[in-house]
Amino acid sequence: MPQAPEFHDRMLSLGLARVSEAAAIACAPLIGRGDEKAADQAAVNAMRTQLNMLDIAGCVVIGEGERDEAPMLYIGEEVGTGEGPAVDIALDPLEGTTLTAKDMPNALTVIAMGPRGSMLHAPDVYMDKLAIGPGFAPGVVTLDMSPAERVAALAKAKGTDAGDITVCVLERPRHEEMIAELRSTGAAIRLITDGDVAGVMHCAEPAKTGIDMYMGSGGAPEGVLAAAALKCMGGQIFGRLLFRNEDEVGRARKAGIEDLDRIYSRDELVTGDVIFAATGVTDGNLVPGIRRDGGYLTAETILMRSKTGSVRRMYYRNPIERSQPGR
Ligand code: FBP
Repeated sequence: MPQAPEFHDRMLSLGLARVSEAAAIACAPLIGRGDEKAADQAAVNAMRTQLNMLDIAGCVVIGEGERDEAPMLYIGEEVGTGEGPAVDIALDPLEGTTLTAKDMPNALTVIAMGPRGSMLHAPDVYMDKLAIGPGFAPGVVTLDMSPAERVAALAKAKGTDAGDITVCVLERPRHEEMIAELRSTGAAIRLITDGDVAGVMHCAEPAKTGIDMYMGSGGAPEGVLAAAALKCMGGQIFGRLLFRNEDEVGRARKAGIEDLDRIYSRDELVTGDVIFAATGVTDGNLVPGIRRDGGYLTAETILMRSKTGSVRRMYYRNPIERSQPGR
């Protein structure tokens, strides 16, 4: 029986950059237009079209939702030409739909790819997350510590004071207690209204972003995408699924998750080597957003491989009237 081709991530990564780039370009006319759904739909359409041009036998494991909820890029959808390696794909065609609609910072298009079985099939529930950047001993901070203990432990590991630590947190009523506890330590808090994939990624480049640690609950699918990014950039992330009702527990069971209380480390969220691409939609601390200026459209993509730890930044520029990916 003929063997399925191996996952050669060097060349495929360049194709992956085009996929996330195309999704961001498609969103460009919708930035700041107050229409989240239209922006998301444009990103989904473009990402799907580009993915289907790649020579892969791809399966979406983290996507737009269950098949009955999402007509495109749903969990289990097969993408690609089918003429290539069997790969799993985690994607969020537009991470920060509200950020895009309101033209607020850090909206990204995001996609990760790895061999079959390389990423946790996280259900669409919340995940309690904790992340720090590279250069620290494993487990220097843990999900079992209180927020104040995490700040103290990270400050000690950095040889600094709690007042020099900046923690990124999603601004939500459910985080009020945690924020109060963090404030009591003297740490600074960067509150974000959306976009915790970017929030976690920011920990990997603290000199650039000013963020040392990310904590709080957000989407579990975004947790896997963030883990894929940190697997390439370096850094630690821990995640524990959170369930609000029996339906959510059922989603986890359907995804094959038996231990509902398990704390996943980065390498348990993403077990194999992956490639990861994210393109800026609106301006962010890691990548600038799409620009349409002087007749040209520009985009920047961060493209990474966990096997080598390589991080590329790819700059795209094209006359606006000819910026139709796939031509
Ligand atoms: P969307 O792009 O779907 O709007 O999600 C953005 C986001 O902020 C994620 O980054 C985060 O994980 C999640 O929503 C948080 O969910 P909630 O808004 O329910 O707190």
